Amino acid sequence: MIVKNEQELNGLREIGRICALALKEMAGALRPGITTAELDEIGHQTLRRHQARSAPIAVYKFPGCTCISVNDEVAHGKPGDRVLAEGDMVNIDVSACKDGFFADTGASFIIPPEPKIKLKLMQCSQRALQKALEQARAGNPLNFLGRAVEDEARRSSFTVIKNLCGHGIGRTLHEEPEAIYDDYEKKDKRIILPGMVLAIETFISQGDQYVLEEADGWTLKTKNRSLTAQFEHTVVITEGEPIILTLP
Ligand code: CO
Ligand code: CO
Repeated sequence: MIVKNEQELNGLREIGRICALALKEMAGALRPGITTAELDEIGHQTLRRHQARSAPIAVYKFPGCTCISVNDEVAHGKPGDRVLAEGDMVNIDVSACKDGFFADTGASFIIPPEPKIKLKLMQCSQRALQKALEQARAGNPLNFLGRAVEDEARRSSFTVIKNLCGHGIGRTLHEEPEAIYDDYEKKDKRIILPGMVLAIETFISQGDQYVLEEADGWTLKTKNRSLTAQFEHTVVITEGEPIILTLP
């Protein structure tokens, strides 16, 4: 969506803050021995306390309140009986809606002690999101985002996942502009507009470039089981720095 007034901005700020809070509380509960279902329940309680609804459930009937993807799972991991252990890399993605507004945020975490490669991936993905955010301003070509992410991945000899992407958001979970890829799409002539609401996400991988759906119909993994780290923020575009909505 394109934000047109203060009231819309406030609605987005509210749901952005709630998503960020749920992510923060779930991250705070990460420890060896907890199951992904227990972690999901913490997110569920946070959303409920703030009268927000899980977007994956509302929009896609996803079998969980949040997406929790462990190690070689890249995205859309289903919360369940899986018990988390030391050294696991856990991606938590929270998207939710309230009063007709949607926000989406995600981050990867490692339960200590941190294996070096996972730490390196996580830090690269985090830096890549920062670099993309620096390009997220009115008037820039939309493909500057992917270029920034891909450059950052390359600097660490990592790759980006080419069939997952960021997206417009606001009135529903995925809307125009769709397909904001993490690589440089030369043919993409779209321009970033003031007031645009974007969910910018970085999928940085050890080497693979494509994900495939597992037999459960939800979980995405790369073919070679490469590890992948994701970070995501929902932002509103301005003439200057974007307004990051998904901060607690
Ligand atoms: Co997300
Ligand atoms: Co998203």
